[in-house]
Amino acid sequence: LADLRAADGVEAAALPVQAAPPNVEADLAVPLFALAKARRENPAQLTSVLAEELDLGGTLFTEVTGAGGFLNFRLDGQALTAAVLETYGELGQDYGRTQDGAGKTVVIDYSSPNIAKPFSVGHLRSTVIGAAITEILRFRGYRVVGDNHIGDWGTQFGKLMYAFDAWGEREKVAAKPIEELLALYVKFHDRAEEDPSLEEGARRWFQRLEAGDEEAVALWTWFREVSLQEFEKIYDLLGVSFEEVLGESFYNDQLQGVVDDAFRQGVAEWGEIEARPTAGGDESGAPGDDPAMEKVAIISLEGHGIETPLLIQKSDGTSLYATRDLATARYRLERWDPEQILYVVGGEQKLYFRQLFAALERLDHHAKYVHVPFGLIRLPKGRMSTRKGRVIFLEDVLSEAIGRAEAILQDRDLSLEEKKRIATLVGVGAVKFADLSQSRVKDVLFDWDKMLNMQGDSAPYLQYACVRIRSILRKAGEEAPAALARATGDEIDAGAFAALLGEDSELELIKELARFPEVVGAAAETYQPHLVASYLITVARTFSTFYKQVPVLRADSEEQIAARLYLCRFTARVLENGLGLLGIQCPERM
Ligand code: ARG
Repeated sequence: LADLRAADGVEAAALPVQAAPPNVEADLAVPLFALAKARRENPAQLTSVLAEELDLGGTLFTEVTGAGGFLNFRLDGQALTAAVLETYGELGQDYGRTQDGAGKTVVIDYSSPNIAKPFSVGHLRSTVIGAAITEILRFRGYRVVGDNHIGDWGTQFGKLMYAFDAWGEREKVAAKPIEELLALYVKFHDRAEEDPSLEEGARRWFQRLEAGDEEAVALWTWFREVSLQEFEKIYDLLGVSFEEVLGESFYNDQLQGVVDDAFRQGVAEWGEIEARPTAGGDESGAPGDDPAMEKVAIISLEGHGIETPLLIQKSDGTSLYATRDLATARYRLERWDPEQILYVVGGEQKLYFRQLFAALERLDHHAKYVHVPFGLIRLPKGRMSTRKGRVIFLEDVLSEAIGRAEAILQDRDLSLEEKKRIATLVGVGAVKFADLSQSRVKDVLFDWDKMLNMQGDSAPYLQYACVRIRSILRKAGEEAPAALARATGDEIDAGAFAALLGEDSELELIKELARFPEVVGAAAETYQPHLVASYLITVARTFSTFYKQVPVLRADSEEQIAARLYLCRFTARVLENGLGLLGIQCPERM
């Protein structure tokens, strides 16, 4: 195909390799219409000529036929099986791993919750998706630097300090930091609706903070610490860690430089604009407090087809979310020299990131910047708003999931301790999978029953598939130790095993397992973990059919048992590696 494409200058996408339709006696089909067009030939004629000419010697195909503009290929099942088993035999636990990204660095900005506010289920999506993309890219050989861009600066801290000063109690905050700070924040907004002078008070507090006033800084530092401690608990539970946790405040002393440089480059200018929010992100530092006209520093993006300029400094000299992002990008380029910088942030900040990337281009800060957006998580109560205090705490979501998993495991023959540990893996896995199995940009609806359904498209279903294969292998140790030894030994004869695996359901399973590296590649290129998630479901289902149709431990001969046990091990490896990419672990028992 590559030769055909090169000779006629046809795009790869125009000559796709497809699964042959069920009514055709073949495995793969390649439509040649684009090629026929490029050559000004009749498609049907072209296919029959090519089918005649193609030499299949040394390939995995036994037959090629041309029909109605399609080339149809029949796979040599045994040759394919041998080739796939051979690859697995060589790579073992690294099956699926490649070096495609070797030598390249990706910085990934994800999770990024805001201090003094609950870690929302929106931040959960960013965390879970970001962590999965990180693992997927690492599996492809990239160096990945995860940077948690904590929202720890902005005018909202003025409000919080005002509220704490007026109504707060230290002990209460110490006991339940996030809940208490949130309550104070909510109270501020309630009161400010009646008494706008509060806003002025809040602004003064923020100015004190920016000026380095001791009392203000001490308060802010404390809010930050207690918040980070709370977030840490969640990361522990989720099993997520970052290479760096540099909050927005980290860039404070670089902001004036960013603005000055932008003016020096002739990219920034003064403008009079109606202050309105540029960032959707929990309004951390976003303007919008004052709808009057304001003299501000902006970067015009009209040359990039974006009407709204990017605000980089307010009239009172204060910085914005965007200013901090410009400084952040510059810092990342200098420190890590990345090929790509990814921002795993909700779809509501889409315009903002278009603006940011265009501004970075105008400033000559070059890299491949990608906003990796995602939809909302909908819980039964509808969208959440921190201002109104209608918030669902992520910890509650996770403990609900773990509790439900525990209930499911209740009458299993497991110790109490084991049950707790497994319930955590299953519950947390279920929450992650519910998120990662959906197309990223779609909204996620939390449906507890679906999420924990052992038969459905869920983490527990996949975990159970792993556990089941493990128990088959354990049983083989007792009932067919010689066969197991053959299936786990170092010297695997892939050709001999392939000759013993000719059943349809075996071939189907081999074909699925063969796709793993390609699926991971597609997920890495499009930043879509759900490709891996739905693939794993297919693998588990295909395995289940195989296991129903073909006896493993009761197969006819020792060789046959060994070959099938090998296939079981291979399947378990793909499931484990795939789940690992999604941050989900398989328990040993369930
Ligand atoms: N803290 C922001 C929010 O909660 C997200 C930050 C995303 N990262 C960035 N570099 N802007 O919406």
